[in-house]
Amino acid sequence: MHTGRGRIVELILQDGQRAARISCPAELIPAPGQYALVSDGSNAPLPVPLFVTDSAPDSVAVAPWRHFTASPVPDHWMPGIEIALRAPLGNGFKLPASARKIALVAFDVPPSRLRGLIRPALSRGAAVVFVGDLPVENLPDDVEAQPMSALGEVIEWADYAAFDVTREDLTGWVERLRELNQASTWKEAQVFIQTPVTCGGVAECGVCAIVTKSGWKMACKDGPVFALGEL
Ligand code: FES
Repeated sequence: MHTGRGRIVELILQDGQRAARISCPAELIPAPGQYALVSDGSNAPLPVPLFVTDSAPDSVAVAPWRHFTASPVPDHWMPGIEIALRAPLGNGFKLPASARKIALVAFDVPPSRLRGLIRPALSRGAAVVFVGDLPVENLPDDVEAQPMSALGEVIEWADYAAFDVTREDLTGWVERLRELNQASTWKEAQVFIQTPVTCGGVAECGVCAIVTKSGWKMACKDGPVFALGEL
């Protein structure tokens, strides 16, 4: 984990949300599934948690963590303002080296948090299918989009799947995924769990607690990405 400064260089409308592109040192750029805590010098009591949606060598596109902002990135963020970052935080997605058929599944949430996996997946020649019912904008031509009604079929096809789900919906979705997995051929699956990450693990506030097979885990530092088998 590093601390440093960055600058907002562009505001983006992505998947119906206001996101931002931030220029910052490379060591501050989270990997897909990890996050950054951002302070902007305003009187906001808590830092803003952001996750990567795409990255380039000297900048990163980020969008808000749904739990913290009903509206996307703070309204007063404008190109040019400086921010302080603490990043990268948490454990993110780990694409298996053997994965060639990749499913990205967003359960009733915008697909932004899974977008960071597209570039590494395509660069290794994998086929990628997005599954979800919320609007998905500007997907690369190589990426197919399917509605949630096609989930069973896509899961059957994929050899790796990444999911994005809120903590409130987790139990029901894990049960559904287990049922689908029994008939599938994919070997690995990881779940991004959206919870508040108020302190990023520093104060051990416990607000991000998740129940797993091996007991309570903190999504802010043990996650927010967990193996499906742990849940
Ligand atoms: S956010 Fe405080 S312990 Fe996880």
